[in-house]
Amino acid sequence: MLTEQQQQIITNIYDYVCIKLANDTTGHDIAHIERVVKLAKHIQSFEPQTNLFIVIISAYLHDVIDDKVIENYQSARNDLLAFMAQQPITQDEQLAIFSIIDNMSFSKNLTKQRALSREGQIVQDADRLDAMGAIGIGRAFYYGGNKHDSMYDPNIKPRILKSKADYRQSNTIINHFYEKLLLLKDKINTPEGKRLAEQRHHFLIEFVKRFEIEWEGE
Ligand code: ADP
Ligand code: NI
Repeated sequence: MLTEQQQQIITNIYDYVCIKLANDTTGHDIAHIERVVKLAKHIQSFEPQTNLFIVIISAYLHDVIDDKVIENYQSARNDLLAFMAQQPITQDEQLAIFSIIDNMSFSKNLTKQRALSREGQIVQDADRLDAMGAIGIGRAFYYGGNKHDSMYDPNIKPRILKSKADYRQSNTIINHFYEKLLLLKDKINTPEGKRLAEQRHHFLIEFVKRFEIEWEGE
């Protein structure tokens, strides 16, 4: 259970995140954040030894210093540090939160697996689940359309992503499924996350199959 003070801190953080992500058009809007918070709380309820407060705050903040969302990583991080310093949060809590949001993104984990606390693994699972299933498909097309990527080209082959730069360098939207979305299921950390990922993964596979058949005009 959260204390009244913790609930107030969460409200302050929610207001901060709403302002920071208000103009986002990359699929990291507040609706994404709220889904991740909800999924993370759900998964946390199966992991009672973990700290709910750290999970919720990290879920809210996980994209506000993502360099895809903001223009200047260092200034966004400094802004967040200044804001967090005003909150009645202990030094240990601050460290736990920053070590999660600094290390959990998909692209940062391409080159080497970054160490994450169990709380971080929970938030990472929630974020990955939101890139899968029907919402994941919607986000991929929204993101790719925004970048003027083609939906599909059978002559352009999917890559094996080896670096953040590979990930940033867009391919076709369907290739994004092969390069990332279909690989997420095997990267999920928690048992409850894995259970939810199964259904969403299945839906992705069905979608890609039908897409490729319909592409041929069949
Ligand atoms: P997350 O918020 O899950 O960490 P990202 O920041 O990497 O994800 O990307 C935001 C959303 O846009 C995700 O749903 C992701 O799958 C999608 N996306 C990222 N890169 C591409 C791309 N090149 N083409 C299509 N969709 C993409
Ligand atoms: Ni996210």
